[in-house]
Amino acid sequence: MTTQQTLLRGPLFTCLDDPGEEIIPAPGSTRYLDDGAIWIVDGRIHAVEPFAVLADHLPAEIDIVDYRDKLMMPGFIDSHVHYVQLDVMASYGRQLLDWLNDYTFPAECRFADEAFASAAAERFLNELLRVGTTTAQVFCSSHPISVDRFFEASARRRLRMIAGKVLMDRNAPETLIDDTLGSIRDSERLIADWHGRDRLSYTLTPRFAPTSTREQLDAVGGVLRDAPDLHLQTHLSENRGEIAWVGELFPERRDYLDVYEHYGLVGPRSTFAHGVHLDANQRRRLAERGANVAFCPTSNLFLGSGLMDRIACREAGLATSLASDIGAGTSLSVFGTLQGAYQVGALLGQALTGWQGFYQATLGNARALHLEANIGTLQAGHEADIAVLDPNATPLLSRRLSQAETLSERLFALMMLSDDRTISATWADGRQVHTR
Ligand code: GUN
Ligand code: ZN
Repeated sequence: MTTQQTLLRGPLFTCLDDPGEEIIPAPGSTRYLDDGAIWIVDGRIHAVEPFAVLADHLPAEIDIVDYRDKLMMPGFIDSHVHYVQLDVMASYGRQLLDWLNDYTFPAECRFADEAFASAAAERFLNELLRVGTTTAQVFCSSHPISVDRFFEASARRRLRMIAGKVLMDRNAPETLIDDTLGSIRDSERLIADWHGRDRLSYTLTPRFAPTSTREQLDAVGGVLRDAPDLHLQTHLSENRGEIAWVGELFPERRDYLDVYEHYGLVGPRSTFAHGVHLDANQRRRLAERGANVAFCPTSNLFLGSGLMDRIACREAGLATSLASDIGAGTSLSVFGTLQGAYQVGALLGQALTGWQGFYQATLGNARALHLEANIGTLQAGHEADIAVLDPNATPLLSRRLSQAETLSERLFALMMLSDDRTISATWADGRQVHTR
């Protein structure tokens, strides 16, 4: 059998561990090579070294790609995004519950149409790869076909993706409402067809407490108990009106989080989007179960939901992941998300460094999603998902970076001034899947 061998040559930056929150990263947590090389064999990273170290060991038939004027990083990861909401982005002037009713639910109704879902999945993946994001944890709609078409499109591109069918059996329009137990059978069918196939994983997806009955939540907990290698994603404590509504719908539970705890939904593979209004006790309970909170800064700013206290989570030992939350988010790009994270942090007196920002978007998210054995760093044995950044993408970026004296300064300016134009190429599974 012939192997496919490729060498990407150029500067590269990767995290090997959490660099911490200081302007000097924790020792050994990052690696930068000025003239580096990523040797890829059949979709996996075989070696990452200075080019000079590998030069004499390369096979004659290897393809060498010259990225000496670029900067390679691990492909970015988005821990919470709704592919069915691209068309909802930039819908004016509502907070969460009105935004859902006025814009989001009507948009998701269109995913009953298979052709529409298929085209939307392709559009979404094109957009993701355009911004250097190679893995995401994705909400589909409540229509199983929206999940089939998403996984099929991801498999064709050989992407590592986590996705699931939205579960909601109350408080939504008729065409989105599940039959309570039918929705569980649909999820089990999707798990059987897609979970563990190629690079795909299934995530159980009860939308949020207000749109599920006790019976549905209980049944989801049962599925998770029997298959703990599944992920789970939902929303938690995003908006004050939402929290009050959960209190009315579940008066027997002590707080919003207790609804999820009661039905067995809080585990190490559970992602709770937002967590803007958590108290110390709730952070501790989430941390004890090893769950993660998806920090969705541009969404929280856009819907006026509030400022998530990332450092309070860190201090409680609660993992946070980083997410666009499209369609409430305003940017699918990791740079837009990181700029939002910086701004939220600045308002809370917690300025985000470039080190921590890029860690969150790569290895931090991989760890939060239990994918760190496969993705999130540029290291031998990992899958070759790579974002290629162009430091000269715009005259302003080029000028500003030329004035930066340290790598710390450079990474921070790159994080704050970049947008989709900075992504020159994207590789997934050792193949180029996007080029500008
Ligand atoms: N809460 C329940 N559903 C949603 C959603 O689609 N987006 C956001 N931001 N919050 C939610
Ligand atoms: Zn969301």
